[in-house]
Parts: sequence; C-alpha cells; structure tokens
Amino acid sequence: MSIAVSINQLTVILLSVHLIPTNPVAEQMSLGKSRKRVNPVLHTDAPAPDPIRDSHRYCNYPNLTEHGWEGHSPADYRLLSVHVMIRHGDRFPLYSIPKTKKPAIDCVLSDKRKPSHPLLGSFISHMALGGRGHWDASLGYLPRLPNHSTCEMGELTQTGVVQHLKNGDHLRQAYIKRHNLLTADWSPRQLWVETTGKSRTLQSGLAFLFGFLPRFDWSRVTVRQQWSTLFCGSSCDCPARNRFLEQEQRRQYRQRTADTELERTYVTMAKTLGVATKILRAANPVDALLCHFCHGLAFPCTNTRTTSNVPDEGACLTLQHFAVIRRQQKDDELERREAGLYRRYAVLAAHPYLNRTATRMERIARASQTRRGTEEVVFALASAHDVTMAPLLGALGLERAGFPKFAARLVFELWNGPEAKDGDRKRGQWLKNMFIRVLYNGEDLTFDTSFCREHNRHSAQPLCPLGNFMSFVRNDMFNIVNATSYKQACHQTVL
Ligand SMILES: *[C@@H]1O[C@H](CO)[C@@H](O)[C@H](O)[C@H]1NC(C)=O
Ligand SMILES: *[C@@H]1O[C@H](CO)[C@@H](O)[C@H](O)[C@H]1NC(C)=O
Ligand SMILES: *[C@@H]1O[C@H](CO)[C@@H](O)[C@H](O)[C@H]1NC(C)=O
Ligand SMILES: *[C@@H]1O[C@H](CO)[C@@H](O)[C@H](O)[C@H]1NC(C)=O
Repeated sequence: MSIAVSINQLTVILLSVHLIPTNPVAEQMSLGKSRKRVNPVLHTDAPAPDPIRDSHRYCNYPNLTEHGWEGHSPADYRLLSVHVMIRHGDRFPLYSIPKTKKPAIDCVLSDKRKPSHPLLGSFISHMALGGRGHWDASLGYLPRLPNHSTCEMGELTQTGVVQHLKNGDHLRQAYIKRHNLLTADWSPRQLWVETTGKSRTLQSGLAFLFGFLPRFDWSRVTVRQQWSTLFCGSSCDCPARNRFLEQEQRRQYRQRTADTELERTYVTMAKTLGVATKILRAANPVDALLCHFCHGLAFPCTNTRTTSNVPDEGACLTLQHFAVIRRQQKDDELERREAGLYRRYAVLAAHPYLNRTATRMERIARASQTRRGTEEVVFALASAHDVTMAPLLGALGLERAGFPKFAARLVFELWNGPEAKDGDRKRGQWLKNMFIRVLYNGEDLTFDTSFCREHNRHSAQPLCPLGNFMSFVRNDMFNIVNATSYKQACHQTVL
C-alpha cells in the first residue's frame, strides 16, 4: 500500500509540476487549430477546425438538450449492467493569472439563477440529509454542495452541478425508464459509486446520482474513495507507466518550445500584464481564460487598469491570445497521437479500471444465467477527472473522440442477446451471448474501439461480443508495450 501511494504521489507530482503549469496533458482539450504549423504531414487535408468553436463545445453549455444513444439496442436484447465514468462538471480555475482579478462567479447554488434545472431545488435539500449515507475514508468531511459566494479554486460551479443533473436524468430515461435497470427495490450492492477525494468530483457524482435516482434513499448509498486519479485501486504500482509518461512529457515540451507563434504569444501576454514570461507560463493562463470564456466574461485586464473604466487596449488579454494557445493544444494532441508514447502510458494507466469493469461484467453475465443477479453491481459510477478519462479513451483506441469536455461521460453497457433455441446455456457457452456497447457523450463508438474495430457490424451479431472486450483487457491491450500482462508490462525495462 505504501508503495502504491508513493507511486501515485509521483504521478501527481509529475502531472502538477511538469505538466499542468506548462502545457498540461491535464488540460489539453479537444481543440481546433487555426493554421498549419510545425509538421504539415500530420494534418494535411482535414479542414482546419476552429479553436473558438471547439472551445464552445468544451464548455458543454447546459442550456442545450441532452441527446444520446445510450440504452439503444436491437429488440429482445436485455440490458444487464451499465458502467459510467464521468468527468466533473464546470469548475472554477485551478490557477490564477498574475496581476488580474479572478473571474467573478458565485458558487452558491440557487434555483433562481441560471443555468438551473427542475431538480436543482430538491437536490440542494436532499444533500442536507447526506449524513445518512455511507462514506469512505475522508469523503464524509467534504462539502456535498458548492457553497462560496466567490468560488474557491477548483470549486464546482452551478453550471457544473446542472450539467450532471442533466447527465443523470438523461441516463434515467435511457436505463431506468426504458430498461428497468434499477427497479424500485434495488439492493445496495447493485449500485457502486466511487470518486476521488476532491469536492468537485464528489459533488459531480452526487448531482449525477440525483438526476439518475431522484430523491434516492441515502441509507442504500455508499460512496467510495479512489486515492489515485487513475482509479487504479490496489494496482497502482507500475513503474513503466511513469516512465512512459515522462517520455511523453519530453515530447510535449519539445513540441511546445518549437511553436514560435505560441512563444511569441506568451511574451506578448506577459508584457501586457507586466510579469515575467516564465511566471505567466507557469500560471497556465489557458485554464483561467477558459473559465472566462465558458461563462461569457470579458477576458481579464491588469488590476491597475481595470480601476479606470476604459482599460488600455494593451492591458487586457484577448481572444486572439486564447485562440493561439488553444490551437497549439490541438496541434499537440495530433502530434501526440502520431508519436504513440501517450498510448503506452494510457494502456497501463487505464488497465486497473478496465479490469475491474470487465470483472464486474463477467460476474453479472455469469449470475444472469443462474439467478437474477441481485448481489452483483448493476450500475457503477466513477466520478473522475480529465487525467482519468483521457488515458481511458487512449487505451480503448478512441483518442480521436477528443479531450474530455466538462461533464463528459463514458459509458459501457452489457447486453444479453436473445435466447438461443438450445444449448447456449451449456457451460462455457454463456459468454457467446453477451455483448458490449461503448458510448462517449452519447455517441456510440463501439466499433471505433481497438477491440471491436474489426467486427463486421453487418454480421449475424449486430453488437460487439463481450469476449472481444475480455480478451482485450486481459491480454491484447498489452501488445502495444510488448507484454502479455499488466504485471509484466509494468515491471519491464523501458528504454
Ligand atoms: C447557451 O448558452 C450559451 C452561453 O451562455 C450561449 O452562447 C448560447 O447561445 C445558448 N444557446 C441556446 C440554444 O440558448
Ligand atoms: C452555505 O453556507 C452558508 C454560510 O456561509 C450557510 O448558512 C448555508 O446553510 C450553507 N448552505 C448549504 C446548503 O450548505
Ligand atoms: C484483473 O482482474 C482479475 C479478476 O477478474 C484479477 O484476478 C486480477 O488480479 C486483476 N488484475 C489487475 C492487474 O488488477
Ligand atoms: C516493442 O518491440 C518492437 C520490436 O522489437 C520495438 O520496436 C518497440 O519499440 C517495442 N515497444 C516497446 C514499448 O517497448
């Protein structure tokens, strides 16, 4: 355990010291690029996406109706279980830009303020009863609602709460209403909820859960804590993973410093604010600028200038500055995919979560053949971070899906096919009639995953066989790091 924790801490240190202040994996988004640069071979014919439009998508405005293909299957398939990972919703910046005011955002929830949701009022009162729930470790001491009139760093905003009330409500329609997933008398063992020890993930998870099971019975809910942002449980010890991450970070550093337009922009921004370029870069300004952008707030100006009503033009950060940083992040994302170093890290980072998901699916699939499976997990929710979800997408071969936006959701569904005439229930045959779907933000990406890309969707089986997923998780995903198991991959020598 102590080893696992220290490896964890190492990862956290790597991410927060090397990565986040400069050009983080943690905050790379699905960005557009406005012009070609550096390596034109990587992005030739695709029309240049617009970094501003792409940033709007990243914000995930909750005034749009939620759509999605969750819960859709051919007739007579039976839904057995659903495993969801969410990224926390909209949050206040983690860094502040030197010499500027922080964005003025109120983090006290109120159903009188926009954006709101029909469930917001009852969510607020229900959270006051949270003492009746069961809480792992330190989770019981975290605030269950954001509640500061000026948001604290990293605090979930009302927008973030509403995003997840919507997500939960959407999946309630898809799974509970349409497929009776957790019927009225569900047992506490059928629901699994886990989160990291940050208030924004805890609160996001609770908002999601409230949308999914409005006014749920607290006494049936246990909230578990994951100590690592990778959700690696007791399998966090993986030295090779950290070395792959370091390689990726070196690539990222080279890519960034070779981007002359980005470097020029940082110099200009720093001059505007009257701080050293190094200091500005370390403050990761795109994080705070995104918050202004997503909340429709003017970009910050230096404190001294904002006291006069008309700030000098040169004293404010601009949309052009923002667009350059976002364009570079997208370029970096493309180059990262090409270089393949991140994929190796991702496979090792994501394996423990995928392995637990696979094991849960296998158990309920097996149980469904004999009894009704009331002791197995039917709905699992993991409330996580971008640094959790991005490696998961990478490991599944879904990097093209883009960097996780606020309140992104990744869903695994387990389906039982129609009963065969005879024989299928024989020992060892049950797996053949089990199927998996993978959806990201409501889009069915099952046939884009590494484990089902080759499956002919017009074959007799319209869905992806669970067996493909099982052998991917247990063996095939390690091909990319020349290994056949997690243990071997983690402890091999990395050059
Ligand atoms: C949703 O909100 C965003 C930001 O406030 C705004 O730009 C957009 O026009 C709104 N869309 C709709 C459909 O109301
Ligand atoms: C929010 O904080 C205020 C005091 O700062 C307190 O009176 C109020 O009860 C809190 N609300 C919730 C829902 O925790
Ligand atoms: C993966 O899950 C199996 C149980 O299905 C377990 O025996 C194994 O230890 C797990 N491996 C890792 C690396 O977590
Ligand atoms: C796997 O083996 C191939 C061929 O020996 C080699 O080129 C590649 O670098 C190896 N990959 C890793 C991650 O070690």
